[in-house]
Amino acid sequence: MLNDYFAESVKHVAVKAAEFIEENFGAVRQSDIVTKDLNSLVSYVDVGAEKIIIEGLSKILPDSTFLAEEGGGGEQTEGDVRWIVDPLDGTTNFLHQIPVFAVSIALQVKGEIVFGLVYEVNRKECFHAIKGKGAFLNNEPIKPKEPELSDAMIATGFPYYDFSKAEEYLRVINDIMRSTRGLRRMGAAAVDLAYVACGRFDGFFEYSLSPWDVAAGALIVQEAGSVVTDFKGGDDWLFGESIVAGSPQIHQGLLQLLIKHFGS
Ligand code: IPD
Ligand code: CA
Ligand code: CA
Repeated sequence: MLNDYFAESVKHVAVKAAEFIEENFGAVRQSDIVTKDLNSLVSYVDVGAEKIIIEGLSKILPDSTFLAEEGGGGEQTEGDVRWIVDPLDGTTNFLHQIPVFAVSIALQVKGEIVFGLVYEVNRKECFHAIKGKGAFLNNEPIKPKEPELSDAMIATGFPYYDFSKAEEYLRVINDIMRSTRGLRRMGAAAVDLAYVACGRFDGFFEYSLSPWDVAAGALIVQEAGSVVTDFKGGDDWLFGESIVAGSPQIHQGLLQLLIKHFGS
């Protein structure tokens, strides 16, 4: 089932959603924006893109279930075959007309992520991975660079609604600023992870993420040959709300700093 044809079919769905997103770039009015939670915005574009994706994926695997950010796809139960979907990762960027946002689609079978696709809308870049078969950017194999920590470019996401660990986070940032080449906040976790997979970034960490932010990107990182854990070095990155990713040496360096400040 998980072959190039399958990947192309999912990409086709992602591209349809991306076209809808692109058509609406700059067109969303203030009155179309709903605040779901502190600094968590949504518009008809997220909802419309999710509808396109769910309709498309349901045709590929008719008996599958969905865990989708905007709640489409019926009851969000954990079936044996479940899609995990973020129809628009980087909503705040999109609404501010900052061109970094993506469609993120993962497939989970019996609890394991077996397929991931991140389609970055503006550069029309399609990152995908099939479990055990490597990671690709526009169908070309990708792998991370493996620099020293001092030459590494690190991505993160700033806390914006859950400030319970903001002090610890700022201490980590302080250490990273001093020990790496630089730090970026792109505003789309799926893109951060895809960029780690292909070596544009060397590492990424963030807390308070949701499964749809990381499911696809994390598999792409792993299949490219890098490492993904939670902030304690464990496997609870999908639902555990903390993730650190990077090529082995960078991951280790970031993890040590995270454990130093967040605890083990
Ligand atoms: C957000 C982005 C952002 C991250 C947030 C996510 P959304 O997703 O990935 O980079 O910092 O935590 O919620 O809301 O734009 O889909
Ligand atoms: Ca997201
Ligand atoms: Ca989203």
